[in-house]
Amino acid sequence: MELHSPAILSQEQKAECFNRIKSLLKEKNAALVAHFYVHSNIQQLADETGGIVGDSLDMAYFGNKTSANTLIVTGVRFMGETAKILNPEKQILMPTLAAECSLDFCCPAPEFAKFCKENSERKVVVYANTSAAVKALADWVVTSSIAVDVVRHLHEQGEKIIWATDRYLGSYIQQQTGADMLLWQGSCVVHEKFKAKGILQLKNLYPDAAVLVHPESPPAVIELADVVGSTSQLLAASQKLANDTFIVATETGILYKMQQKSPHKNFITAPTSGTGATCKSCANCPWMAMNTLASIEGCLLTGKEEVLVPPKIIKKAIIPLQRMMEFRSKMTP
Ligand code: 13P
Ligand code: SF4
Repeated sequence: MELHSPAILSQEQKAECFNRIKSLLKEKNAALVAHFYVHSNIQQLADETGGIVGDSLDMAYFGNKTSANTLIVTGVRFMGETAKILNPEKQILMPTLAAECSLDFCCPAPEFAKFCKENSERKVVVYANTSAAVKALADWVVTSSIAVDVVRHLHEQGEKIIWATDRYLGSYIQQQTGADMLLWQGSCVVHEKFKAKGILQLKNLYPDAAVLVHPESPPAVIELADVVGSTSQLLAASQKLANDTFIVATETGILYKMQQKSPHKNFITAPTSGTGATCKSCANCPWMAMNTLASIEGCLLTGKEEVLVPPKIIKKAIIPLQRMMEFRSKMTP
C-alpha cells in the first residue's frame, strides 16, 4: 500500500499513473476533491486536474461550484457523505469506503439520539466529522473553521448547546465563547496524542518557532499555540507569520502544502510522545493513508466504492449542513 512516506513509485511510474487517472477523470467528467491530509501525490494530482485540495469546509463547498458529474472524494467517509448530502444528484466515489474517522466511530446515532432527547431544550451542534445519521439529528453542522463563530452566534441568542463529537474541540469552543455546552466525549486518535512536554522541548531547540495547533488537540497543547485553527487556517498562518520555523500539531499531510506555499520555511511535526517512547512523531491518520493513486484509479474504473446515503437521511441532514453553508456565505460573501 502507498502510505504517507513510503510512496514507492518511480518518477516514471508516477507519471504513467497520473496520465491514466487524468484520462479517466476526463472521460467520466469527474473531479478530485482532496483533503490536506492525503498523500502529496494525490494533492498534486487534484491541483493539476482542476479539482480542489482543502479543509473539510472547502471540500463541502466544491460540489456546488463544479460542473463535474462525479466527485472522487479522497479523505474519510464523512467527507464523502457530506458531498452526497449536498449534491444528491452527483455520483460520489471514494478510493475506499473503509476510510473512517475515530470521531465518527465514537458517536453512534442511536446513543446520540438518546442524549439529545434527554437534553431536548438545547440546540444540537455537531462536528462535520460525524455520520450522516448523526447529522440528521442536528440543528447545526460545523467544521473546525467555523465552529467558534456558529456557537458564539447561538450563545448570543441565549441558546444552550449539545456538542458532539470531539471533546477537546468542544472545550476549546466553550472557552472561546463562554457558551453553556454539554460535551460528547469523542476524540481524534491522531490529535489526542500530541504532547505539551514534547512541544516545550522542541521550543527549547527552536526558540523562534511558531506553534500551530488544530483544536482537536488536548488543552495543554492548545495553550502553547501561537495560532489555533482548522487545517486551512493553519496553512494561512504558516504563510502570513514572519517566523522561519513552525511546529505543527496536526496531521503530517498538511506539511506538503505548507512547504509548497513557503519553500524557504522549516516545518516540524509536533511530537506525539515524550522521551523514551518508541514513536516521536506518529501524526498520521491511518484512514487518510488508505487513499492511494491505485485506489483512485480503481474506483474510477469500477465505479465501486460509491457513497450512498438513504434519501430520508439526506432530507434531514441537508438542513443543518445548508445552515452552515449560509452562515459562512454571510461571513465571507
Ligand atoms: P479540517 O476541517 O480542519 O480540515 O479538519 C478535518 C479533520 O479531520 C481534522 O482532523
Ligand atoms: Fe478523523 Fe482524526 Fe483522521 Fe481527522 S485526523 S479524519 S479527526 S481520525
